[in-house]
Amino acid sequence: MKNFDVIVVGSGIAGLTFAFKIAPYVNNVCLITKKSIDDSNTNYAQGGIAAVFGDDDSFELHIKDTLETGRFLSHKDAVEIMVSNGPRLVIELKELGAKFETDEDGKFKLGKEGGHSRRRIVYAGDYTGYEIEKTLIENIKTYNNIFMYTNHFVCDLIVDENNLCQGVYVLDVEKNEIEPYFSQFVVIATGGCGQVYKFTTNPMIATGDGIAISYLANAKIANMEFFQFHPTALYNSEELGRSFLISEAVRGEGAFLKLKDNRQFMHKYSDKKSLAPRDIVARAIDAELKLTGEDFVYLDLSPFTEKKFKERFPKIYEKCKQMNINVPYEPIPVVPAAHYSCGGILTDTNARSSIKNLYAIGEVACTGVHGGNRLASNSLLEALVFADLAFRDVREKLKEPFETTVPGFYSQPRPMDEETKNILSKIRKQLKELMWKKVSIVKTVKSLKEADEQVNILSETFFNLENYNNVEYFEVRNMLIVSKIIINSALKRKESRGLHYVKDFPEEKNEYLHDTIIQKEVL
Ligand code: SIN
Repeated sequence: MKNFDVIVVGSGIAGLTFAFKIAPYVNNVCLITKKSIDDSNTNYAQGGIAAVFGDDDSFELHIKDTLETGRFLSHKDAVEIMVSNGPRLVIELKELGAKFETDEDGKFKLGKEGGHSRRRIVYAGDYTGYEIEKTLIENIKTYNNIFMYTNHFVCDLIVDENNLCQGVYVLDVEKNEIEPYFSQFVVIATGGCGQVYKFTTNPMIATGDGIAISYLANAKIANMEFFQFHPTALYNSEELGRSFLISEAVRGEGAFLKLKDNRQFMHKYSDKKSLAPRDIVARAIDAELKLTGEDFVYLDLSPFTEKKFKERFPKIYEKCKQMNINVPYEPIPVVPAAHYSCGGILTDTNARSSIKNLYAIGEVACTGVHGGNRLASNSLLEALVFADLAFRDVREKLKEPFETTVPGFYSQPRPMDEETKNILSKIRKQLKELMWKKVSIVKTVKSLKEADEQVNILSETFFNLENYNNVEYFEVRNMLIVSKIIINSALKRKESRGLHYVKDFPEEKNEYLHDTIIQKEVL
């Protein structure tokens, strides 16, 4: 039996930050990740971290932009905490070694993205997430009391009858064994669930595991109807289940959207044109693709010289060249793709979930900051700030006595025959297609109800299978649960707000100015 002071599940910016901060205060930290330590959504974040550093900027403006983009559903107290802690924590990251771009005076260079009224994105080229991840991993390695369990998959939470979390059941993928790991505190930082959609910028690991296991343990899950579609994924670039992202920062530096016949269209949808908030841009592209019958729109790079584009966006430059797109002379073909879940495990401003001693940080959490739509580059910021808040809260509570009372029993994984493997991969594929077709940028009550029925059918097939308890089995279970939660949350919100657009209810309604909370009711 394994016992730890703290268990952290997930190794993106949130999980690593928390583990690094708590390590000096405990005997041991267990850091579990289902693939390698650097396989996380953070790694693919191109844009940067939004924080107030500009001379013309203020906390009030950043708060205002966040609330407006979130269509006034965000929790104001959480937004204020996030924004006011931003600069301090970005400087902390810099001091840990993250190389953000600076000018000759040593001040951060600041990028611009949709919905921001000021330049406030701290960045490292177009690989900010990678730079942060690398820095945190280097620092984590300086502690010998952080025990990393890579290729370990958390199957379920251990929660007693008093709603107290006491640990997790863990599948060691190499040994093919499930074992309980006990701990006074569990911090879920497993990232998003973009893999429930056919086209996504998220890596293969993003199957909503943290949300599903918390839901199964009776945690409150909030605002899952607000799924963000990034307007500009590179067309036809799917590799290992994910589409390549063309950062919004490219539009921030002057690129603009146009149709195949060179006509611009964003002026019809917003006076901010190509730099409108993501929900508006993604819907505009979706509408234009439906109108024209084309497969993609173009991102025109004519404001760039080759030198400037290559220097500012080296990874995008390289990828486009690889795909024979002669940037910046040729435009980039782009399409929207599922990108970020604004909802998740409901937490308070200390990152506490509704289950005692269970915390949630990063994309997996719904801290209330994003409301109906996330402001660009507020995600790394939220992860950083709420990991810090969770750390402070846990550090205080470490003084409380703790005793494990729940025995750990879990049936062991069993070998899976080819037929079952095929059934599972069929369910996964059908689910992703169904979510893309019926539960994406523009929804209707009919499409949601049809999706709900079809997920029920897929779930029935799944739950009729024997219990195999291997990763493929758990991932499909988790994807089905998360999809059901997204659909049912969407059905509950009979209005359109931010990312949640339902044709039958095109307006915002004041009576829906509250979170949508789901707890043990959909599967
Ligand atoms: C981007 O660079 O466009 C993505 C950053 C984000 O999701 O905020």
